[in-house]
Amino acid sequence: MRGIILAGGSATRLRPCTKIASKQLLPVYNRPMIYYPLNTLIKAGIKEILIIVAPERAGDYLNLLGSGKEFGVKFTYEIQDQPKGLAEAFMIGENFIDQESVCMILGDNIFEDDFSKEIINFKSGGKVFAKAVPDPERFGVVEVDDNFKAISIVEKPKEPKSNLALTGLYIFDSRVVGFAKEAKPSARGELEITELQNRYLKLNELEVVKVEGEWIDAGTFDSLLKAQNFVKEKMQDKMVI
Ligand code: TTP
Repeated sequence: MRGIILAGGSATRLRPCTKIASKQLLPVYNRPMIYYPLNTLIKAGIKEILIIVAPERAGDYLNLLGSGKEFGVKFTYEIQDQPKGLAEAFMIGENFIDQESVCMILGDNIFEDDFSKEIINFKSGGKVFAKAVPDPERFGVVEVDDNFKAISIVEKPKEPKSNLALTGLYIFDSRVVGFAKEAKPSARGELEITELQNRYLKLNELEVVKVEGEWIDAGTFDSLLKAQNFVKEKMQDKMVI
């Protein structure tokens, strides 16, 4: 299993803090934000991790994280020239992924759960992680049946079919690279990850896993503040880095 941390983007919602610093390097209590998604991957035993960054910030990531030796893993870096959508990560990562399965996590997503079992036991297809939220219209929304099997997935629906948001953790087999290449930009001009999830759904190869613990997308000032407090109180003993 290979790992990808997607840490590009424009972070407009955190301006002016992100005018001179990358969102995913801002402090969340006592660590840079990216340490939390990195912790999720390293805890699950993933040893090869691709970090995708915006061109202006690449040097900062290298300075902070280096080769990965300090963490007992190997980092590879790639640039995303423009934030053209989450699905582009699998094209940028084509050579890195090779014939392996890949676990991608967003650089601003903080999870309380330990996903080691889900990551280690993955065999093929796609696996996504859903959490009930009060404002599902802000996310990709998955509708499930009584057995938690996916029925539909829609990106930022005006009228959500459920309150289950798809979080920023995704596991796919290597077919995802081809699916990403075939994806068309959405109305907002992005290559949407929901399109890739729908490819697996149509093949009946998409598994939905419920996120039990806290999940924070730390991309706004309010959620960043929430993340700071949560990490201080609840995450300290869950960190291996
Ligand atoms: P978002 O929070 O949706 O976008 P953003 O980080 O650009 O912020 P804003 O909406 O405030 O302008 O992105 C989620 C995560 O994915 C975040 O860690 C940035 C990353 N990302 C990329 O690396 N490349 C992309 O093309 C996009 C859309 C996001």
